Amino acid sequence: MADGERARSVDWAARRAEIARRQQRAYVERVRGGRGDLAPEGAMENDARVYTDPARFQRELETVFRDHPILVGLSHDLPQPGSILTFDELGVSIIVVRTKSGAVKAYLNMCAHRAMMLVDKPCRKNIITCPFHGWSFDLDGNLVGVPEPEAFENVDRAARGLVRVPATEWAGMIYILPRPGDDEIDIKGHLGDFAIELEQLELHQSEPVKAGVLDAQCNWKYALDTYGEGYHFPVLHKETVAQFNTTETLYEAFGPHSRMGWPSIDIKQLLDKPESEWPEPFYGGVHYLFPNSILFYGSVGASEPFVQIFRHFPRGVDAMRTYFAVYSRDAITSDEYRSFVEAAGYDGTAHVVATEDYWVAENGYQRLKTAPAGFKVLYGANELSLQHKHREIAKATGMPLDVVG
Ligand code: FES
Ligand SMILES: [Fe+2]
Repeated sequence: MADGERARSVDWAARRAEIARRQQRAYVERVRGGRGDLAPEGAMENDARVYTDPARFQRELETVFRDHPILVGLSHDLPQPGSILTFDELGVSIIVVRTKSGAVKAYLNMCAHRAMMLVDKPCRKNIITCPFHGWSFDLDGNLVGVPEPEAFENVDRAARGLVRVPATEWAGMIYILPRPGDDEIDIKGHLGDFAIELEQLELHQSEPVKAGVLDAQCNWKYALDTYGEGYHFPVLHKETVAQFNTTETLYEAFGPHSRMGWPSIDIKQLLDKPESEWPEPFYGGVHYLFPNSILFYGSVGASEPFVQIFRHFPRGVDAMRTYFAVYSRDAITSDEYRSFVEAAGYDGTAHVVATEDYWVAENGYQRLKTAPAGFKVLYGANELSLQHKHREIAKATGMPLDVVG
């Protein structure tokens, strides 16, 4: 069965509801027991240089980021033929395009004449014209226009198309491999058992509402760590996240990817009630897409749902940038819903990340850089997502965690 037919034939809402009920039971059990999921091996040490070592960082660029599909956005970020996105991280400049036939293709953002940048921001065009001498390309990357053509009569135009970059659109998401090539991306191979967990989110319906960037002067992994544990909620986020969530983590790994959630504080009201009296639960969770993206599907308290995507990129060993974008869960049908998603989904969260999580990320990382030789950070048994993630990133680099520098 083709993917499109399959997507239509499965009742994803029912699947989400079933998992939500499972999550609800698990949350109640964990809150009742007074603790969330714990790593069986206990706390884990990790050498500070895993974050600070330039050689290890270089290796991450060449392996973790070059060999794995990187999420660049959702289908509605390229809403129509001629929609173009730009990608300028990881040392490459790429454009991602929706072609006339509706397919997604990507190219180096580089003119075939003398390598000038073609597009400097997201836009919509049917013909891409270079701002240097005016060479032009169609959406399939073919060279279609050369001013003063008599000067290039001996040039093979077919060989002067845009340089292809692997790209694919799957289940409402757009992925690239950030390097030249025309190979197919095996997205299902990359996601494995996690594929269905993402497919059920029906992200092809999600519409962009607001997007921005959050920068931090720290290694990309230190910032990413702040999305992976609830241990810090009652202290760092005393006045914000902790007003809504408790710390008892529910954690599920799917290969290098994972899903994680924390019970809402309202769950305490269910502890003494039979399940038949529990309210209808809502599916949600923090989905970690290896290596660098976090997709939060859910809501704040009992409010309307939305989707938040955080894509983390290194900018050198000691700096990083997060592209933060918020989407509706379903098609946007009212201004009220849009305003709500903008305020609760983007503005509120961006403020907490910038002033609380990334305040810590920058501050902690500065000290980590000057920590005494041999200093090791710790991930508690209650921070099992961090343990798993650092093992998986190290595995992808081919460098064991205990061999650094
Ligand atoms: S570099 Fe693009 S037209 Fe010359
Ligand atoms: Fe946080």
